[in-house]
Amino acid sequence: MPKTTAEVRTFFDAHWTVRKYKSFEMPPDHLDTILSATQRAPTDATAQMYSFIRLRDSQLREKFGSLTGNPHFATASLSFLVCADVHRLELFLKSAGHELAAIPTIANHFGIGDAVMAAQNMLVASEMLGYRGCWIGGVLNALDEIVSLTKLPQGVVPFAGLTIGVADEPAVHRPRIARSLIVHEDTYREPSESEINESVALMASITARGNWAETLARYFAKDGTMEKREGSLRAILKKQLKS
Ligand SMILES: Cc1cc2nc3c(=O)[nH]c(=O)nc-3n(C[C@H](O)[C@H](O)[C@H](O)COP(=O)(O)O)c2cc1C
Repeated sequence: MPKTTAEVRTFFDAHWTVRKYKSFEMPPDHLDTILSATQRAPTDATAQMYSFIRLRDSQLREKFGSLTGNPHFATASLSFLVCADVHRLELFLKSAGHELAAIPTIANHFGIGDAVMAAQNMLVASEMLGYRGCWIGGVLNALDEIVSLTKLPQGVVPFAGLTIGVADEPAVHRPRIARSLIVHEDTYREPSESEINESVALMASITARGNWAETLARYFAKDGTMEKREGSLRAILKKQLKS
């Protein structure tokens, strides 16, 4: 049965990212339902080029918390490392007597696409059951150590973490930029300066200091935090995908 537009809006409007969880052991049927939804995600070329490392060991979960600056890795009901996985694809090819072509860029593209779709299905299914979650790009702060802690074979590349559990913080509704900036009609439309300024103002409520463009700059501009991540991500792609 299709949902009503009001039901769909209410469900998606209620999404919010949580970083503090109650101690809660998830019932097995909830976990099974969430993992089933995860595997129902569409997958490019049918290849399912992703793997999830479920973090269960408490010391490992704490280590992930400190390495990534996201301590909820240790306290969530579920903690995962979400990975692009071309290693298993190679095994399937090998079963039919083939070798993987020299396609590291394609492998990265397919693997990340598949991993993101599956993990977002996981998050949405969790939210349908009343849980909340948090994607964790902070894994990029410690890629080498994470690859070695989780014994990822060549061909498997961490994309992000994902924690899921029962929220222990009040709900917030974080804004998004204007829809007219993200949906283009037939051809790409450059936004005007005033549209850019309006969307920066729209996003102000999620910032500590009131200027979202400055928040973005602390991540992505020169001397921002992403500059430090660039080299280590490139090195891991070289090591894991021979790219
Ligand atoms: C790929 C990805 C990585 C993220 N990494 C982090 C992270 O490392 N730490 C964190 O607290 N939130 C992280 N987030 C959550 C975003 O900050 C959050 O989705 C955004 O602020 C919008 O808020 P909302 O989800 O509550 O609407 C990440 C989200 C995505 C999609």
